[in-house]
Amino acid sequence: MPPTPLRHGGPNARIAVIPGDGIGKEVTPVAVQAIQAAAAKRHRPLEFVEFDWGADKYLRDKISLPEGAVDMLRKEFDAILFGALGDPRVPSNQHAADILLGLRFKLDLYVNARPAELLLDRFSPLKDRICNDIHMMVFRENTEGVYTGSGGFFKKGTLDEIATQEDINSRKGVERILRYAFDYARGAVIPDSISSGELTSPPVPPGDSASPTHAATRSGHNKPLRLCMADKSNAMAFAGDLWQRTFKSVRAEYPDVDSRHLYIDTLAMELVREPSQFDVIVTNNLFGDIISDLTSQLAGGLGLAPSGNIHPGQTSLFEPVHGSAPTIAGTGIANPFGSVLASGMMLEFLGWHPEAQLLKQSVKSALEHDVTTPDLHGAKQTHEVADWLTNYIHKHS
Ligand code: NAD
Ligand code: IPM
Ligand code: MN
Repeated sequence: MPPTPLRHGGPNARIAVIPGDGIGKEVTPVAVQAIQAAAAKRHRPLEFVEFDWGADKYLRDKISLPEGAVDMLRKEFDAILFGALGDPRVPSNQHAADILLGLRFKLDLYVNARPAELLLDRFSPLKDRICNDIHMMVFRENTEGVYTGSGGFFKKGTLDEIATQEDINSRKGVERILRYAFDYARGAVIPDSISSGELTSPPVPPGDSASPTHAATRSGHNKPLRLCMADKSNAMAFAGDLWQRTFKSVRAEYPDVDSRHLYIDTLAMELVREPSQFDVIVTNNLFGDIISDLTSQLAGGLGLAPSGNIHPGQTSLFEPVHGSAPTIAGTGIANPFGSVLASGMMLEFLGWHPEAQLLKQSVKSALEHDVTTPDLHGAKQTHEVADWLTNYIHKHS
C-alpha cells in the first residue's frame, strides 16, 4: 500500500492551508515559507490556498466547517497543512470538533501517524538516553473510538443525570489500522519524514517496498521494525476482544514482523523505563492521543512533534501534534518545528523526498546551533527561527 504521490498527475501539487487559532496562525506561515524555500530551487510548482476556518470565523459568521468544504478538499487538493484549533472564547470546542475531527472523519483519514524521534541527545527528558533510544512511530486509529460523538445525556442538569460516551470499534476500522502499521513495519509504506536516511541518501522511490525504514536505517539491517499493539482488553471486554481477535488474525499474515501486545498502562510505563524497545506502536484513537503526547515529550517536547492524518492515495492532512497554546499565542515565541516537520511528512507523502529531508535537516541543524524558542530553552523568537530555517534551506537546496 504505497503512498500515491501526486493525485492530479504532473509535477505540481495543490495544498490547502488552514492555520486555525492561536499559535496555529504563527507556526503555519513558517512552515509554508520553509516548503517554498525547499521547493524553489527545484523549480517545482506549488500552489497554496489559505482558508480562514477557526474561532474568529465561527464567532463572527457561525460557520465552522463550511458546506461543501470536504468535497472541495477531496477533489481539488493533494494535501492539507493544518495549524491548530482551540480558543478560550469557544469553551465547548465545537468549531474544533466540526473542523478538525470533521476532516479526519469525513475524509476518512484513518491513520494518524505520529513519529517521535529524538534529534539531539540533550533534548531527552530521560537521563542518559540518546537519539538511538528514542525513535518510534505511533499509529493512532483516527476515525472511530470515543471520538465518534456517540452517547448522550439522560436527565441532564438534574441530580440524577447520566452521561454516556460510547467507544465505537468496527472490525474494518481496527483491521485497516493494524494492517497499515504492519505494512509500515515491513517498510512498505512511508508516511513520515523519518523513514529515509540523511540528505546524502538517494531519494526513496514511492512505493518501493524495499525502501529502508527508520530502525532498519538505524541498525544498518534491513529487518522489519518491532510492532506493539496496545489496548485495555483486561478492562474493556468488548472493544478489547475485537482488537485482540483482529490483531491475532492480522499478525498471522506478517510472520516476519516481531509483534507483541501490551496493555496501554503498561506501555506508558515501559516507554519511560526503556523507550528503545519500541519501533512501531499501534492503538486506538483515545489511547493514541494520550500516548503520542508522552512519546512527543520523550523526543524533546510538543513543540517539535509532527503528525500526518492519512488515507493512502487520498487528500491527507498534516499538522503539528500541539494545540493552539492560548497562553503564549501572540507573544512571538511559538516553536515552529512541529509544523515544519509535519510539512516534511506532507512532502514525503507527496513523493517529494529530497525536499522532505531538507526540511527535517534544517530543524536538526537549528537544534544543533541552539536556534530555538524558549520551550526548548532557547532565546529566539518564532520569526528568528523562521529566518534561520529559510536561510539554511536556501543554502542547502
Ligand atoms: P497545547 O498543545 O496547546 O499546549 C500544551 C503546552 O505546550 C502549553 O504549555 C503550551 O504553551 C506548550 N506548547 C504547545 N505547543 C507549543 C509550541 N509550538 N511552542 C511552544 N510551546 C508550545 O495543549 P492545551 O493547552 O491542552 O490546549 C490548548 C487548546 O488547543 C485547547 O483548546 C485544545 O483543545 C487545543 N488543542 C488542539 C489541537 C489541534 O488542533 N490538533 C491539539 C491539542 C490541543
Ligand atoms: C490532537 C488533539 C485533538 C484530539 C483534540 C483537539 C480534539 O488533542 O490532535 O491530539 O484529541 O485528537
Ligand atoms: Mn492530543
